[in-house]
Amino acid sequence: MKCRRCPGTAVIELRRHNAAFCKRCFSEVFVEQVRKAIRRFAMIGAGDRVLVAVSGGKDSLALWDVLLDLGYDVDGLYLGLGIGEYSDRSREVTASFAESRGAQLTVVDLAEEYGYDIPTAGRKGARSTCAVCGLSKRYVFNKAAVDGGYDVIATGHNLDDEAATLLGNTLRWKTEYIARQSPSLAAETGMVKKVKPLHRLSELETAAFAFLRGIDYVVDECPLVAGNTQLRHKEAMNAIEASSPGTKAEFFLGYLDRGKALFAREDDVELTPCGECGQPTTARYCAFCRARAQVLGERLGEGPPVVVEDRDVVASMSGEVMPIEIYGRAPA
Ligand code: AMP
Ligand code: FES
Ligand code: ZN
Repeated sequence: MKCRRCPGTAVIELRRHNAAFCKRCFSEVFVEQVRKAIRRFAMIGAGDRVLVAVSGGKDSLALWDVLLDLGYDVDGLYLGLGIGEYSDRSREVTASFAESRGAQLTVVDLAEEYGYDIPTAGRKGARSTCAVCGLSKRYVFNKAAVDGGYDVIATGHNLDDEAATLLGNTLRWKTEYIARQSPSLAAETGMVKKVKPLHRLSELETAAFAFLRGIDYVVDECPLVAGNTQLRHKEAMNAIEASSPGTKAEFFLGYLDRGKALFAREDDVELTPCGECGQPTTARYCAFCRARAQVLGERLGEGPPVVVEDRDVVASMSGEVMPIEIYGRAPA
């Protein structure tokens, strides 16, 4: 099969584009899609310092690779979640990528810095493992970016991630989460701007890019995600995509172009500083501090229990939000 752009032999066929590309042209197409995303959503301004959250998986390493090549001032952040061998290997892979590119990597260890790891939080807390993991990541990414003086946090969320999140929120008509889902969330007081430059690229495309670029990445999924809802929604999207190529992109990119505006009035929340850590929240204490206190069996503040009436929308990177929660004191 021939490359669509040059006389070369194709190495990858993209059904949704009804086209095949050689190695070089595919890499160019990939980078063009990242540039387009950055431009369209004004993700990174001149002189911005970018912190890319790198998990050791294909998406975030591919993202870091492209941002470095595009000449951005971009450092990496790895968060150690304490998930046994999976975390150890992810850390090694991330560190050796940083070394090979001469790039700066910050490592934060959840257990060392915050006193718990994800498996423990999953067992002891009221939330699912993935929920507490997600909110821990959002919190630490933001904290590290604020402390390090970065202007932007970039994550490797791809088209499959975003389409699955949108599907999940649509199936339950979570309108305020739908309104907030965006490849670029502006900075707010205490919150650094968050961007997802890979949102136009599918999981298959980022895997192919990482492979063709010779990037060593952790192929295994996190061992704790089995059966998680996001994964089921991805499988459902993939089943539709298999019979109608292009649906996934049409669903998410179409939402950005035409659907999102319809939900605009759902997106108005007022943020105040968390009574414990000072990061912005819609509640008295932020979701991170509540979850952490619960896992550690600590109490937040003094006085009578607080009834949180509003949703804790805030720190959401992917648009998904923590459930309404009534919370005052962590159980003794
Ligand atoms: P996930 O939440 O696992 O789907 O990952 C989404 C994005 O979050 C990845 O593409 C990374 O940018 C970032 N990320 C996930 N896990 C980590 C981690 N342990 N350390 C740093 N960044 C991470
Ligand atoms: Fe968060 Fe596995 S990476 S639960
Ligand atoms: Zn807090």
